[in-house]
Amino acid sequence: MTDLDQVRAETLNSISAASDVAALEQVRVTALGKKGGITALMRMLGDMGADERRVFGQQINAVKDEVAAALEARKIVLEAAALDQRLARERIDVTLPARPEAQGRIHPISQTVDEVVAIFGQMGFTVAEGPDIEDDFHNFTALNFPPEHPARLMHDTFFLPEKADGSRLLLRTHTSPVQVRTMLQQKPPIRVIIPGRTYRCDSDMTHTPMFHQVEGLVIDRTTNMGHLKGCLIEFVKTYFELDDVPVRFRPSFFPFTEPSAEVDIGCSRAGGELKIGAGADWLEILGCGMVHPNVLTNCGVDPNEYQGFAFGMGIERIAMLKYGIPDLRTFFESDLRWLRHYGFVPLDLPTLTGGLAR
Ligand code: DAH
Repeated sequence: MTDLDQVRAETLNSISAASDVAALEQVRVTALGKKGGITALMRMLGDMGADERRVFGQQINAVKDEVAAALEARKIVLEAAALDQRLARERIDVTLPARPEAQGRIHPISQTVDEVVAIFGQMGFTVAEGPDIEDDFHNFTALNFPPEHPARLMHDTFFLPEKADGSRLLLRTHTSPVQVRTMLQQKPPIRVIIPGRTYRCDSDMTHTPMFHQVEGLVIDRTTNMGHLKGCLIEFVKTYFELDDVPVRFRPSFFPFTEPSAEVDIGCSRAGGELKIGAGADWLEILGCGMVHPNVLTNCGVDPNEYQGFAFGMGIERIAMLKYGIPDLRTFFESDLRWLRHYGFVPLDLPTLTGGLAR
């Protein structure tokens, strides 16, 4: 066996024995590097005669090519194996739950707001918000409450201390002042839904000093009472998840709407159990009406060009009705046992397609 045969055989053996890319590189250096076996043989060419050099030169080039091809082929195999190993090591089980079961619960108030927003969002409403601390203009005057009108007293307003100029800020008694802010800020057409906290100095079985309302406002050129009715009937059916629920519009009074109505939904109280839907009884759930021309004028909207409707309802009330929560005051007691019982699964956002409540 010549030296060349021996170097060739050893190198090819080492190539097949190399167990990873680094070991293979070592084999390459040992054969073809500066101090490599094949390189050493090539150096001998210089001392050979012309004929011998031609023969040996061809042989050694053939071995070089063979070794290079073997190195390349082995490299592909080793790289593929390394990739397989890495994929196996880094495998992710996508069937595992995304994170441990969430511990918290969504409060029924938040859930109900999310549901109401999802329903009106689908109808093209956007959400607007305003401050809890208001002034007389936005809470009363712009909404067509005459000065000294008893309706102001009806609201049992919490006032802040009087300022030097005699004016007093107050905690908003309803979400209606955000109607005013919205109309002062944006041009019709307007279609907004306004959830938020409201305050009245009142506390008993069915009243808490802080509670929540959601207000709606639609202003356009031809918006009429028919639109108001259609919109609210659709809301009631979707919110209570009932195909058929009787809805009654009963004439009423609010300073900021004319005509005004209160909306009742059908229910039954047979056997002492309240059930929403067809039945002998009615239950009031919200107030509404066509926005009073004075309110439009106060908000810089021309009543000869624009008209629209508004409505307002209590969040706690519709939450209690839908989820069978018997006592209003428990909403604000921060009792974890209550929240675990009446609360909702986090991350399960209410949508009309995915379902409102889970
Ligand atoms: N703001 C009224 C309240 O607090 C509720 C209400 C009634 C709002 C009629 C409205 C409406 O926008 O049109 O009792």
